[in-house]
Amino acid sequence: MRISDSKLLAAIGALGVEHKPSVSLADLTSLGIGGTSDVLVIRKHEALPGLIRLLKETKTPHRFLGGGSNVLLPDGELPWVVLQLARQVPEIRFEGNNVYVDCAADLGRTVTTCAKQNLGGMEGLIGVPGSVGGALRMNAGAYGTQIGTYVREVKVYRAATGQIEILRGAEINFEYRHTSFALDDIMLSVRLELPSKPYSEILQGIRICNEKRRASQPLNQKSAGCIFKNPPGGSAGRMIDELGLKGHHVGDARVSDRHANFFINAGHASAAEMLELIADVRRRVRERYGVELEEEVIVWKQ
Ligand code: EPU
Repeated sequence: MRISDSKLLAAIGALGVEHKPSVSLADLTSLGIGGTSDVLVIRKHEALPGLIRLLKETKTPHRFLGGGSNVLLPDGELPWVVLQLARQVPEIRFEGNNVYVDCAADLGRTVTTCAKQNLGGMEGLIGVPGSVGGALRMNAGAYGTQIGTYVREVKVYRAATGQIEILRGAEINFEYRHTSFALDDIMLSVRLELPSKPYSEILQGIRICNEKRRASQPLNQKSAGCIFKNPPGGSAGRMIDELGLKGHHVGDARVSDRHANFFINAGHASAAEMLELIADVRRRVRERYGVELEEEVIVWKQ
């Protein structure tokens, strides 16, 4: 949505928040899908409570966008103003086995920067796209690793209190692609505790994960990773594959030929096409297997 009220724009500016009018959100997502909206870039974490209070007082609907790698945004003019965190400098700081990371930092780069300090454990996460904050929210995982294992503290904007708080890792529930954070909590920074490991050993682990991923996932195409969560004890990808749906498409929204749980934007797919493909595949899986697949990707709906 557009913010046109000059008083509101001045108040936003006074908080040190940057206003970017009419941004193409497709450019901010790995799927390359999404309409337009004004974006508010938050440079200082401390500005968040005041900003959100202001948006609430002026009844300005808003949503927070992280790294954009696990979301499906709607087409057209979005009914929300989009908030984003600017990257902090420095993004990462080390104290022994403790690593303090800004949530806007890139997850993959964080894994390799830690590796250079001989801190491992997160090798499995190397090819997971997106930000550290997004990985935290979803408890991102791959190849037996999940980020929640290493979380000791999170600095978070709590929607419930309207304040920035520090949560201890033990206070947070990390489950399969789910955490106890509220939908409108915003993760700001995290303290991870990583095991010591020689760089060469970590590098070897990273290489193995990269190879596995390259062999089974469509890495050079526009996607949001896996579209559905795996049902308990099952594999969404295998079921969709067994139904012969690789290559199945609605317009440019297409089931990947390489991994059937990756739906790709093969050109100029719209959100409507992607949603139709998701609904169609879910229906076919339900009819054949009696399993109701749940989306893993976060779909922005009203
Ligand atoms: N399979 C097929 N056909 C396919 C895809 C998979 O038969 O088209 C079979 C595979 O052969 C294998 C089984 O299904 O026997 C599982 O496949 P895979 O090892 O690729 O793992 P996955 O369960 O599909 C999960 C995560 C991925 C993560 C990988 C590696 C979910 C929904 N997906 O995929 O995470 O990268 O394991 O650990 O949990 C994501 O979250 O976006 C994501 C991509």
